[in-house]
Amino acid sequence: MLSSDLDPRRIPVHIACVMDGNGRWAEQRGLPRTEGHTAGEQSLFDVLEGANDLGVGWFTVYAFSTENWRRPADEVQFLLRFNEQILINRRDEMHERNMRIRFIGRRDRRVPRRLVRLIDDAEEMTRGNSGLTFTVAFNYGGRAELVDAVQRLVDSGVRRVTEKAIARNLYDPEMPDPDLVIRTSGEYRISNFLLWEIAYSELVFSETLWPDFRREHLYSAIKEFQDRDRRFGGVGES
Ligand code: IPE
Ligand code: IPE
Ligand code: MG
Repeated sequence: MLSSDLDPRRIPVHIACVMDGNGRWAEQRGLPRTEGHTAGEQSLFDVLEGANDLGVGWFTVYAFSTENWRRPADEVQFLLRFNEQILINRRDEMHERNMRIRFIGRRDRRVPRRLVRLIDDAEEMTRGNSGLTFTVAFNYGGRAELVDAVQRLVDSGVRRVTEKAIARNLYDPEMPDPDLVIRTSGEYRISNFLLWEIAYSELVFSETLWPDFRREHLYSAIKEFQDRDRRFGGVGES
């Protein structure tokens, strides 16, 4: 699948991705699960570059869910350090590519101070960039996000709850709803990702494990998206 097989007028504005299958990829090779996460870094930056070249405006990835704390302590520790390391290694190159780095998720006490500081610095450094917005969902849960939004509304003393009011109180009110959500590794579920925002997203599931996923797989997913008829509850074009 080549990017030239895609309709350049119908590139999704926002693609969100559940990067899944790292553990199984490693297990298939007799390696520790963490090796799968390590291998996934190359997938992420290949796909991100592919998306950037296509002119995708927003790319959001699920890096760590509010449920992932249930994993063995050493894997959790690894993932915390791994995300720090990625920020340190890659923020300059993303900045040079004019990308904006953002985070969504709960900044609770379980997230190490050092990581929070790195997140803040990366956001600050890239704030003025006008290229692709790369959003990392870290300690993110769709239900937690809705709870936090409603709590903020309650705290502000509003009398009337509207969809707009909830949307304005999500973690990143500027983030447009995803047009396309991709999940890798042959799992057909959402796992608490962007529950509010995906109301009308097109869902594409790929059998490929995340460490094997490359920009060509992204193009295939976008092709599938382009072959869909989005109706938003109406009667559509065809
Ligand atoms: C996704 O891969 C990465 C994270 C959840 C951090 P997994 O670690 O879930 O891999 P599988 O699903 O066990 O293969
Ligand atoms: C979703 O994958 C979370 C991330 C990719 C970060 P999981 O592997 O944690 O989801 P389940 O447990 O299979 O639903
Ligand atoms: Mg998984």
